[in-house]
Amino acid sequence: MSDAEVVADSLGALAEAETACTRCPLYRNATQVVPGEGHQQARMMVVGEQPGDKEDLAGRPFVGPAGRLFDQVLAEAGIPRDRIFVTNAVKHFKFEPRGKRRLHRSPNAGEIDRCRWWLGQELKLVAPAVLVAMGASALRSLLGRPATIASLRGAIREIEGGTPLIATIHPSLLLRIRDAEARDRERAQFMADLQRAWQLT
Ligand code: URA
Repeated sequence: MSDAEVVADSLGALAEAETACTRCPLYRNATQVVPGEGHQQARMMVVGEQPGDKEDLAGRPFVGPAGRLFDQVLAEAGIPRDRIFVTNAVKHFKFEPRGKRRLHRSPNAGEIDRCRWWLGQELKLVAPAVLVAMGASALRSLLGRPATIASLRGAIREIEGGTPLIATIHPSLLLRIRDAEARDRERAQFMADLQRAWQLT
């Protein structure tokens, strides 16, 4: 990732370059590319998996149900969203049509690895002081190898180049936990992970 040639000198130019991406087949069915969003000087970069249905339509990351939950937890943690950079491991929505609905499908290793090049561009431009990987796809992209969140949670790792990395859950997990107590526990841990990263900025 670190040896990627820089193709844009600003996030706006990078987003423009991403619109022409054909590095994997996902561009064919998605409405549009969803670039990362935030300040070029942001000290914290948060990486999710891929845009969902709402993000695909809006062209912005984390604006759907998982994004609303993420915003709530950020606000409770005292982290202003407009001071961080939010992006995804994969920049196009992967889905399976089911009637009128489009069901989310997780990106495969090849899609993550092809899209990793764009994340490398974002990292070069933003040069954050700390990274947060939300979920295994983000973790794979940032580390350049498969790893589980459980194996890395609670510790501060470094990606190639030395930027500290905190691994945490993807907020969509909180939408799927039915047991209220278990959900509250997981949410509190998620918030603590985000706060820990924020302290490193
Ligand atoms: N889930 C993600 O990982 N990213 C988004 O942008 C939205 C939902």
